[in-house]
Amino acid sequence: MATARALKLLTLSFPSLLRPPQLSWVRGGSVAFRSPPLVSRSRCVGARFLSSSKGDASVEETTTTTTTKKKMKKKKEKKEKGKGKGKVEGGNGGGGTAMEALLKRRTRSSRELDDETVQQLLGVSSHIPVLLGEVLDVFSSRKLRSFADCTVGAAGHSSAIIQAHPELQCYLGMDVDPMAHQMAKNKIDSLLHDDSSSTSSNLRGYFLLRNFRFIKSVVDEVGDKLMDSGLDGILMDLGVSSMQVNNAERGFSVLNDGPLDMRMDPQASLKAEDILNSWPESEVGRILREYGEESNWFSLQKKIVKSRLRGGLHSTKDLVGLIQNSTPRTKGRQGWIKTATRVFQALRIAVNDELKTLQDSLYSCFECLAPGGRLAVISFHSLEDRIVKQTFLDIVRGKINDEDGELSEEMKSDLTSTITNDNDKEVWIRQIIQGERGRILTKRPITPSEQEEKLNRRSRSAKLRVIEKI
Ligand SMILES: C[S@@+](CC[C@H](N)C(=O)[O-])C[C@H]1O[C@@H](n2cnc3c(N)ncnc32)[C@H](O)[C@@H]1O
Repeated sequence: MATARALKLLTLSFPSLLRPPQLSWVRGGSVAFRSPPLVSRSRCVGARFLSSSKGDASVEETTTTTTTKKKMKKKKEKKEKGKGKGKVEGGNGGGGTAMEALLKRRTRSSRELDDETVQQLLGVSSHIPVLLGEVLDVFSSRKLRSFADCTVGAAGHSSAIIQAHPELQCYLGMDVDPMAHQMAKNKIDSLLHDDSSSTSSNLRGYFLLRNFRFIKSVVDEVGDKLMDSGLDGILMDLGVSSMQVNNAERGFSVLNDGPLDMRMDPQASLKAEDILNSWPESEVGRILREYGEESNWFSLQKKIVKSRLRGGLHSTKDLVGLIQNSTPRTKGRQGWIKTATRVFQALRIAVNDELKTLQDSLYSCFECLAPGGRLAVISFHSLEDRIVKQTFLDIVRGKINDEDGELSEEMKSDLTSTITNDNDKEVWIRQIIQGERGRILTKRPITPSEQEEKLNRRSRSAKLRVIEKI
């Protein structure tokens, strides 16, 4: 019955003036008011930056020119000459190529896309969930009674998971972006009002506008018994959404002029222009070098600091102009665009304190899991993926993250073993790294199928890693 199934919106009352109301809903249950704890808000909140894969699509389109292709072909030929031709696990190409080397370190998904997903990828939806089928596979064998989406975004993954698990009783959706938070809430709200949907009538849902680094306190705050006893599934789909990149006012886009902002959380105080116009010169250089992996970092650092004498940089156009002037003309348009993409990436990491946030949050998420619960993480560039890979290893080996965020080696043991999965039911699991506290179900990360990559260019560098708590 529509009225009985109606979603009741709950505004969590709370004393903080720092953020707008958090909403949660209870479907078919009673509505209660709760106050969130007074968690300290970090100046810079975690987020993902514009990466070459998930960033501005128009930027990507312009970067492959004939010259580059020729250069790449030459490079590839050179590499092929120097290599043997072995068979590659998880690969699907010929032997001995650079692509083959890459495939050795990942497992390309062989999952075929269904019609509905293809429609989404063809642009019916404004935001396309990456590796959607693969994420559904991760949780399909589990009785998912409680689930948290740490990066709810446009609720693409969440909607699909809620529909695929009618047994779900408790759902938590988090995001730092108020627009995404509202959009996700509306979407799931209407999904639950839809009588034809297969969602549970006893589903309790909570939406919180909060950084996922606070997941532990959010779980306490919500106070749902089921979540308190541990979550059966958690998802982190890192990065910016299309909505964020396409909104020039957010400052994420290289090609659209906007303020030098780049905050994922509009209430955080640090903006990209603060770094560019007032941070110590050496710090500006470090960010470009470490977070952007930009080889021309020193010259850019000098120019950025020099621009302060003329009033500084205040718009993305100002920054892009400086980059264009620092890039040799011979490199053409794609030369400065690549540099700009790296510089934007570096600034976004710094503004949102992404890497530290990610590492700490992986530990926190793991702690929130119930025994047998799974944490799935989709990353989009190597700095992030390296952190996910290493932190998962540290977790299964027993390394702990104490209250101050310091890593302790005390419990560390190297008692991990690699097991080949011979379970027919979960064919996506190839090799498992078994440790004392958990199992890494993806020794190599899962990457999108060729079909998905073709349909959605932004998915190209996505990597999915999954850990299960013992
Ligand atoms: C790629 S989108 C997620 C898309 C979503 N999976 C979907 O299917 O629609 C990433 C989202 O994560 C959010 N986000 C990034 N860093 C975050 C953080 N540290 N805490 C909470 N949300 C974060 C961003 O605001 C963005 O909305």
